[in-house]
Amino acid sequence: MSETLILTKRWGQPNSAKLAGYRADGGYSALDKALGMEPAAIVDEVKKSNLRGRGGAGFATGLKWTFLPKDVRPRYLTINADESEPGTFKDRYIIEHDPHQLIEGIAITCYALDIHAAYVYIRGEFPKQARILDEAIQEARAAGVIGPRLLGKKDFDLDIHVHRGAGAYICGEESALLESLEGKKGYPRLKPPFPAVVGLWGKPTIINNVETIANIPWIVSNGGEAFAALGSGKTGGTRLFGVSGHVNRPGVFEKPAAYNLKKLIMEDCGGIPGGRKVKAVIPGGSSSPVLRGDEIDISLEVDAVKAAGSMSGSGGIIVFDESTCMVRALARIAKFYAEESCGQCTPCREGTSWMEGIIEKIEHGHGTRGDVEKLEQVAGAIGGNTICALGDAASMPVQSFLKKFKDEFIRHVEERRCPFGEHGWGLEQASRPAVVGAVKY
Ligand SMILES: Cc1cc2nc3c(=O)[nH]c(=O)nc-3n(C[C@H](O)[C@H](O)[C@H](O)COP(=O)(O)O)c2cc1C
Ligand code: SF4
Repeated sequence: MSETLILTKRWGQPNSAKLAGYRADGGYSALDKALGMEPAAIVDEVKKSNLRGRGGAGFATGLKWTFLPKDVRPRYLTINADESEPGTFKDRYIIEHDPHQLIEGIAITCYALDIHAAYVYIRGEFPKQARILDEAIQEARAAGVIGPRLLGKKDFDLDIHVHRGAGAYICGEESALLESLEGKKGYPRLKPPFPAVVGLWGKPTIINNVETIANIPWIVSNGGEAFAALGSGKTGGTRLFGVSGHVNRPGVFEKPAAYNLKKLIMEDCGGIPGGRKVKAVIPGGSSSPVLRGDEIDISLEVDAVKAAGSMSGSGGIIVFDESTCMVRALARIAKFYAEESCGQCTPCREGTSWMEGIIEKIEHGHGTRGDVEKLEQVAGAIGGNTICALGDAASMPVQSFLKKFKDEFIRHVEERRCPFGEHGWGLEQASRPAVVGAVKY
């Protein structure tokens, strides 16, 4: 039986980013259907679909939408296209290859929630995607798809704006994103209140990830139950999994939400170069706890990955083969979080740099057993004690690497050098062709 493709179906087809190409494939018929439905019925379908946010936290989308206070106007929709979590690369391809699917999802969402202005906050390093999206919005506006009347027939005005960020990871955190959108420094806000109640310019705001909203047209066309049936448990639909690292065929793969992680790596990605063994896998972006190679025969469904002690997060899967030095890999991750901490809270500002320094010291053979203990203590003191989840994002990898690969940290201390030498980044890293949906890069 052929697999259902919702998000990557049109990728690689000629004109896939153009209105004509999208319309030729039935595009905007879901919006047409939605305009004949009661807004509340659309929200019900999304609830039935078991669509969960694809930005990282996996929150139920339909439920989030119901948090908007009933009588406060205006209200806004913000699409999170920041995509800065290391290992994550999927939203940029939705925008590049099929921007109208996102625009149609935005239009349906806004109609369902009585929102008349939507903002797409896109990472500054994506100028090409920002231009493609801008052009697609202009095309949709010129054709009367959005603007004063939806599809030229429904008295419902909608405008969509693209806002480019300046390349700070923290601006992917939803409240920092709102601050940045308001023209301020991207400092996360204390929550509660949550954005659905007090969001952009103090007004109720729904924030959803690009992939989350790109699913909405399919849900309206095919029904929430059909979407739920593609997944399992409380996670419906397909998902985009971006696989990088030591695999023969890296890329973006659209698979049912409960697809098997080992199968994805060993079959879809063609296994590990040189036939080496999988040493470790980060299943959901660099902040998700690492799994050992013998722990990857699991479903990627959100709750199943949680039960295995990690997170399916943003769907960014990083594979490490047996030639990798896990201390060196962790040092690189820790450096990222230390650089990206916004500095508002002491445990995160100080703790992330402290962790980076200790891990570097151990990697270079200057660490002691006391340093390994100190690393455990510092990581344990950050998570849960900060304004936003970057603190947890920085400490979870450290705690899990220490739990799963402590012997490697101790070997560095005892041998007073990196036991992996210059090959500690893994062998045969060099350029392998990537597959993005049906497109070869
Ligand atoms: C430090 C940090 C960075 C984040 N970066 C992103 C991001 O780049 N893209 C994204 O969609 N969500 C990101 N999130 C999650 C968002 O805060 C938010 O949960 C998400 O955009 C909600 O959309 P969803 O429910 O559709 O997943 C980040 C969270 C944190 C704490
Ligand atoms: S946890 Fe870190 S990134 Fe988040 S607000 Fe505090 S200092 Fe800033």
